[in-house]
Amino acid sequence: MARRKGNEIRQQSSIYAHIVGWGMQLPKKALTNEAIAAIIDTSDEWIKARTGINERRIADEQETTAWLGLQAAKNALALTNILPGDVDLVIVATSTPENIFPSTASLIQHWLGAKSAGAFDLSAACSGFVYAVDMAAQAIRSGSIEIAIVIGTETMSRVLDWQDRGTCILFGDGAGAVVLQAAREEGGVLSSVLRSDGGGADLLAIPTLNSTEIRSTESIGNPKLHKMYMHGSEVFRFATRVIGDSVREACRLAGITIDDVKLIIPHQANERIIQAAARSLDVEPERFMSNLSNYGNTSAASIPLALCDAVHEKRINAGDYIVLVGFGGGLTWASMAIRWSLPQPGEVQVSRMAENRRRIGYWLVKWRVRFRRLWRFLTWRGDDDLDS
Ligand code: COA
Repeated sequence: MARRKGNEIRQQSSIYAHIVGWGMQLPKKALTNEAIAAIIDTSDEWIKARTGINERRIADEQETTAWLGLQAAKNALALTNILPGDVDLVIVATSTPENIFPSTASLIQHWLGAKSAGAFDLSAACSGFVYAVDMAAQAIRSGSIEIAIVIGTETMSRVLDWQDRGTCILFGDGAGAVVLQAAREEGGVLSSVLRSDGGGADLLAIPTLNSTEIRSTESIGNPKLHKMYMHGSEVFRFATRVIGDSVREACRLAGITIDDVKLIIPHQANERIIQAAARSLDVEPERFMSNLSNYGNTSAASIPLALCDAVHEKRINAGDYIVLVGFGGGLTWASMAIRWSLPQPGEVQVSRMAENRRRIGYWLVKWRVRFRRLWRFLTWRGDDDLDS
């Protein structure tokens, strides 16, 4: 039997996965190029000319990966009438999780009060958000779940080597999220192309304690431990090579052409990569979304942040075809064609009742957590007494 790609089989499903909510959260503090140039040997002119970045956001102690992701998820839910208890799945795409386990997704699931949801983190670096939306959309299209929240959230500033001018100028912190819901109406996520080439694993990485590279040298005090390193020019070449083919393939699987696509939302890594991709696809650069001048490269958060900005700038309207394309560590890359099926924010009728029930739910979770902590504290004291 001739081998058919999974995507072509999936398209026969009569259930579609639509994006029905979107939201973002940025840290308060902005770090300008000038401020970086005061710490390391670089300049505003160099950074702007070579990357297109003007500033990025840097998380403070309280703005953790989970907190940023939680706020983005709440903002995405706020555009819908969905209650956290209706959510079936929470996926967090991140390279800067709070822990190896428990997953950041589990923390967010709990803080949302999404009591009936499964939750897991997904590691595919800057392609992670597209991978995660694909996982959620497939689960919806198979009929096994109805509602999913997919979050891309990062605190890259905590894993940067601030002495390395080849990386620390590029990255920033932030989070974006979407809510996906099952519907019979045709549209939503139409196709996806997920790819990996682990042969390029050493081009871009954040080694942790279990990495062979770290274990073979002295691990304690190793300056590479938990810090990002990158071979910038090779990653640049890789990105410009894969974007075009991957976008074309996502369009082909969705049964559309590149001319049908209103907006391409690429991972925000470097303005020159975006321009090279536009040239390779023979598409006007204006049809590529770019907001990296404000936020830098926020890894798995960059595509949902760009998606939110695009919706708010009214660059996407109901009925439009858009394509998301991510690339990064792994190496990984991924594209996805979507038919946007929703009206603009504000045109969605969000019921007061849903809003209030969500607010009360978040408040109850907060107090339940505090109460549990107090209870554990009191119980532990009791154990000490028993031991003595
Ligand atoms: N400020 C000033 N000079 C810098 C600099 C900085 N922040 N970073 C590098 N340079 C210097 C280099 O030392 C080098 O100097 P030399 O010629 O005297 O040796 C020169 O600039 C050119 O270095 P190069 O690395 O070739 O620059 P580049 O034009 O490739 O730009 C990156 C560097 C990192 C901006 C670029 O390679 C890049 O964006 N790569 C892709 C990164 C990426 O997207 N990563 C994430 C993927 S998810």
